[in-house]
Amino acid sequence: MQEKYTPGYSSNATNFMSKRTLDTHGAFFKPYLRPGMKLLDCGCGPGTIALGLAKAIFPGMLTGIDREVSQIQIATESAFTQCVSNAEFLQANIYALPFADNSFDAIFSHALFEHLQEPTQALREMWRVLKPGGVVGVRSPDWGGFLIAPSTPELEKAFSYYKWLQQQNSGNPNVGRELRALLRQSGFTNIKASACYQDYEPLSEITEYLAVRIEASAKVDEAVEKGWTDERSLTAMSEALRKWSQHPDAFFAQSWCEAVGQKG
Ligand SMILES: C[S@@+](CC[C@H](N)C(=O)[O-])C[C@H]1O[C@@H](n2cnc3c(N)ncnc32)[C@H](O)[C@@H]1O
Repeated sequence: MQEKYTPGYSSNATNFMSKRTLDTHGAFFKPYLRPGMKLLDCGCGPGTIALGLAKAIFPGMLTGIDREVSQIQIATESAFTQCVSNAEFLQANIYALPFADNSFDAIFSHALFEHLQEPTQALREMWRVLKPGGVVGVRSPDWGGFLIAPSTPELEKAFSYYKWLQQQNSGNPNVGRELRALLRQSGFTNIKASACYQDYEPLSEITEYLAVRIEASAKVDEAVEKGWTDERSLTAMSEALRKWSQHPDAFFAQSWCEAVGQKG
């Protein structure tokens, strides 16, 4: 499998993810949460949404998994400092979850599916560890729905380049619109799909995150060496992002898609 996680684990990327909460990014799943539930969060990252999930199901147990150990350490430390006693975090891969069949009442996953090469395989594994009657909720962005103003060719190039990087890494920047189909193909029923927009304020947080990742692509993805781009283009794209973030009229919004389904 060629799958590679495009954002990487720089402090810049981790801090960007850490701003997310259950209320801001997981609200679509809140109606399905009940105290006492056994809940799994797949691709939990630094765990800020996961800790919100844990509080919502207390005294039930929240298990967060992520394939990256640094994220598991951050999430575990946050649970400790915030005195969240009903959350545990484990290093694991979505394609081979270390749990018995029918283990969880509910499974959640946020901002993971756009990075997966085999989303149906991942959902089948989630289906396996979900109890009959259990509910799954998945949320991912769809890069087909960006609202960018005021736009410039360099800015458009920067967004296209990042999207292309994600595709090179076997991800799917347009997976959001496919979540309903993916859940159905993986055996889930009673599927409800929805979408909403997130605007970014202050804009400098996402522009800096994208600029840093675009600059890092020279080394991380060997993009210059492989002839995908050159140093001048990388500099022009990251400068365009930073300049845009200072523009008094700058506006950016991104579409996020959600799907909820049931096992059996
Ligand atoms: C964009 S982050 C989202 C983190 C968190 N859910 C959030 O929205 O703030 C995606 C996370 O999925 C993890 N991930 C990527 N591929 C994975 C896989 N195959 N199995 C488990 N975790 C994976 C990454 O390590 C990363 O921490």
